[in-house]
Amino acid sequence: MEYRNLGRTGLKVPELCLGTMQFGWSVSEADSVEVLSAAFEAGINFIDTADMYSRWVDGNPGGVAETIIGKWIKQRGIPRTELVIATKVRGRMGAGPNDEGLSRKHIFDSVEGSLQRLQIETIDLYQTHWPDEETPVDETLRALDDLVRQGKVRYIGCSNYPAWRLMQALWSSDRLDLARFDSLQPHYSLVHRAEYECELPAVCRRYGLGVIPYSPLAGGFLTGKYRKDKPLPESVRADSAQKHMTAENWAVLGKLESLAKARGKSISQMALGWLLSRPEITAPIIGPRTITQLNDNLGAAGLRLKTAEMEVLDKVRQ
Ligand SMILES: NC(=O)c1ccc[n+]([C@@H]2O[C@H](COP(=O)([O-])OP(=O)(O)OC[C@H]3O[C@@H](n4cnc5c(N)ncnc54)[C@H](OP(=O)(O)O)[C@@H]3O)[C@@H](O)[C@H]2O)c1
Repeated sequence: MEYRNLGRTGLKVPELCLGTMQFGWSVSEADSVEVLSAAFEAGINFIDTADMYSRWVDGNPGGVAETIIGKWIKQRGIPRTELVIATKVRGRMGAGPNDEGLSRKHIFDSVEGSLQRLQIETIDLYQTHWPDEETPVDETLRALDDLVRQGKVRYIGCSNYPAWRLMQALWSSDRLDLARFDSLQPHYSLVHRAEYECELPAVCRRYGLGVIPYSPLAGGFLTGKYRKDKPLPESVRADSAQKHMTAENWAVLGKLESLAKARGKSISQMALGWLLSRPEITAPIIGPRTITQLNDNLGAAGLRLKTAEMEVLDKVRQ
């Protein structure tokens, strides 16, 4: 496993990050723990989660993924120094008016909840899950800066920010001498490109942000498990995967499959390799549900596509 700096920071992270949105949603606690252990043994010590995972599931109050990770760290006795723990704040965690958002109050309340559930004293990377239009960005950054100064958080990052909001936040941090976002977690894959590609790569390159894309396999579409004219396979994510089933995306999948065959790789490994071959990408966040899926995803470590292969995939969309 190759380790890279997260943007301009000195923090080293593996080229694949383990996401945990599936814990307590499509994966039981016992299976989640197996995935965590196997990933850690393979060198993935960078774990991404969020306070709200997975509150959208019936009976899940949120905080479940953080709780599973916390128990795993304690039960396995993993030294804190060996892990890079990233979590997020912004989503709704209760019914009250201050139970969501990026206000000073909600951030201060949420960080305590996350630290408690994760059973740690410091979060390595604390990310704003998505922007909050109702809170001034200066208030959010000052609250995050205070957490850094208190030692509760080491680095801060953001997710789902368009370029103008990211620039606004970077300028505020600079103007007020506050901690700044050192990473961006965008939605980015071979079949979801425009949102990130239109303006964000230039900002991230210029200001030295680490980029850790989520849903790199489009929730399973880029594994080849979904086939045109075939019934949807068993997956709680099958319904949402349907949005990717366009003529253009089937064509991307077809090209990816032939390139994968020629390389002796799986379709998903080539899709992850495509991200790993882009210079500004630090580490795609994988979300395997099983050990078999994890082992497949791990086969992308070290994979870099040739220029000709990248061009073939780019040309499908022109
Ligand atoms: N910041 C945000 O707003 C945000 C949003 C979403 C996700 N995230 C983060 O990003 C992480 C990854 O996102 P994601 O789960 O959408 O990633 P993904 O890699 O696009 O999708 C993962 C899913 O694809 C299927 N899969 C993976 N490998 C496979 C294989 N080899 N064969 C067959 N199926 C396979 C599995 O679903 P099934 O087996 O269930 O079909 C798996 O749960 C999350 O865990 C979370 O940490 C962040």
